[in-house]
Amino acid sequence: MNHLKLWKVDGQGNKVREWFYFWVLLIFSSGWLSNAQPTNAPTLHTLGREPWRPQFHFTPPSQWMNDPNGMVYYEGEYHLFYQFNPFGDRWGHMSWGHAVSRDLVRWEHLPVALIEENDVMIFSGSAVVDWKNTSGFGLNGRPPLVAIYTGHFTKKPLQNQQIAFSNDRGRTWTKYSGNPVLDVNMADFRDPKVFWHEGSSRWVMTVALAAEKKVHFYTSPNLKQWKYVGEFGPTGAAAGLWECPDLFPLSVEGGGTKWVLIVNINPGGPTGGSGCQYFVGEFDGAKFTADPLPASRAEFVPSGKVIADFEAGYLGWKVEGEAFGTAPASGTLPGQQAVAGFRGLGLVNSFKGGDRPQGTLTSEPFDITAAHISFLIGGGALPETRLDLRVDGKVVRTATGRESEQLRWQSWDVRALLGQRAELQIVDRASGGWGHLNVDHILLADEAARSAIEPVLWADYGADFYAGVSWSDIPAQDGRRLWLGWMSNWSYANDVPTSPWRSAMSIPRELTLQRTPEGLRLVQRPVRELAKLRGKHHRLAQATLADAKIWLAKLKPESRLLEIAVEFENIATIEDLALRFITGENEFTVIRWQSGKNQLSLDRTRSGRVDFHPKFAGVHEAPLAAREGRLQLKLFLDTSSLEVFASEGNVVLTDLILPSLAPRRLELSVGAGAPDGQVRNLEVWELQP
Ligand code: FRU
Repeated sequence: MNHLKLWKVDGQGNKVREWFYFWVLLIFSSGWLSNAQPTNAPTLHTLGREPWRPQFHFTPPSQWMNDPNGMVYYEGEYHLFYQFNPFGDRWGHMSWGHAVSRDLVRWEHLPVALIEENDVMIFSGSAVVDWKNTSGFGLNGRPPLVAIYTGHFTKKPLQNQQIAFSNDRGRTWTKYSGNPVLDVNMADFRDPKVFWHEGSSRWVMTVALAAEKKVHFYTSPNLKQWKYVGEFGPTGAAAGLWECPDLFPLSVEGGGTKWVLIVNINPGGPTGGSGCQYFVGEFDGAKFTADPLPASRAEFVPSGKVIADFEAGYLGWKVEGEAFGTAPASGTLPGQQAVAGFRGLGLVNSFKGGDRPQGTLTSEPFDITAAHISFLIGGGALPETRLDLRVDGKVVRTATGRESEQLRWQSWDVRALLGQRAELQIVDRASGGWGHLNVDHILLADEAARSAIEPVLWADYGADFYAGVSWSDIPAQDGRRLWLGWMSNWSYANDVPTSPWRSAMSIPRELTLQRTPEGLRLVQRPVRELAKLRGKHHRLAQATLADAKIWLAKLKPESRLLEIAVEFENIATIEDLALRFITGENEFTVIRWQSGKNQLSLDRTRSGRVDFHPKFAGVHEAPLAAREGRLQLKLFLDTSSLEVFASEGNVVLTDLILPSLAPRRLELSVGAGAPDGQVRNLEVWELQP
């Protein structure tokens, strides 16, 4: 049956919604949405069938979900709307799904709030309580909830901003008859986030000009008429599209308030795909001025074996198709933006003849004799423009450019492939915009090469935190700024092998700013409400690292859901300290801190299922120094994710993992160099949703 037809009955009227409820009832009662009970906690029965169903993270009962939308608090309820495809488990037919919670822990699923119709998808956006009824949508003296979202036109390259309102606590919504409320005739103009600006007594909207890597600011007296007042960007990380901005004042611990501008970016995030960056600064109601961004770090190129530098022809590489010509390029080709960042005089540049020509370039076989393969790469971010590592004819690692002619280092951790014979293949099977790839200097070495770090502040260094956006209208007595993000990554989101749902949200987190010698930094802490989940408690206080190792080895948690808090001391000089989360034979996820690098990493290369997409396996790194010889970590482990809050939430890493069902074990491994190292406190809670 063509489900969509049901929704196209008319433009605005009630008939659409009546049909909708009829349909939802039918679906719910037929058991198609097997998990559509009013809480997010599946029964044991569904657990068996859905081994990776998160137990304390929000998931849709079934089908596809991406960004959190319309987050607003009203009359005791936290609303969570979300990008939802009611008709499939991949991205498409975007509508707003809906759930509410009274405690940020348990969620009640509600019917779809805003449905795609008339060839307009409902893209990301926000919602506010219109306390002063500036919109006139209020009823009987009660303020309306107003949603501000992007209408994405499926039959023409257009995105504009639209509104809808609700007079019944968000249960039903009416699209405004005067939509769109903001249209500048652009194809990439999306994700409006609106808030009431006290200083100027008017609404402010931040909205992304995604392809131009800019945030625009608009103001309005009534949510219906919008006036452009300023812009921000590009700056910080700007290699990919800018999406889902958010802007809010935030308390500084120890006193004061500053403004924080959130800008999500895809690709070009901290692990390559999607990521969430922030800027700290001042906002006067029209203009955002960012504090200086952190200093950048120099490039690092380890010594090792150069597999190819493309200085003297393609040598042993086999050329197929037209895209690569007969010899490497010496730089920018006719009609191309300036190509930069390659080494020496030659590089692979498949812009020969423009974007249109296609082809492949395949290396001779070689042995993987070191831990990392690094390479400079630029050009298209498409799955059809890529560099593959192949073993036995199978693609085991892959990389793309980031829609920039600037080549940057990327690398693969190939420890798991040591000793194998492999070949490299540069693939160009795309002919449209960014249908080309630039590659140079492929290097096999013990360490990974790194490009100079761009001046950027990442909210999360893991692979799976995107579209982070905060709740509106949290009561003043509460005073917190709360947010969460979509716990996936556009690089592989459509392929994550869960069923019948796809994607989860991160846990809700409280935001503050902390003063550091480098400037103000965003701090995230899991919301205190999550303590409700705590069951059996295990604690070790003041022990040597050796004793802590033994204690952890003996710990046999019954629950697969864990909260872990640990504080190490006197470890500033330790070579390396690793906490292994063991989920099966030869299956583990590793959180490692290295003093020499001042770095925390999360390694999911052997975390369980990683083979469903070549970009999934990986080690994700974050800068982290010990503070007065101490290292503090807080971890939340669900059935298929791991969130690490280090140094009281100064550094956060969120990663999906898809482990087997074996009981969970923890293992501590301790490098040399800190004879007085201690565990000051170690607590493990078994969680019970
Ligand atoms: C971000 C995003 C938004 C858009 C939505 C569409 O993940 O691309 O920019 O509004 O997803 O689903």
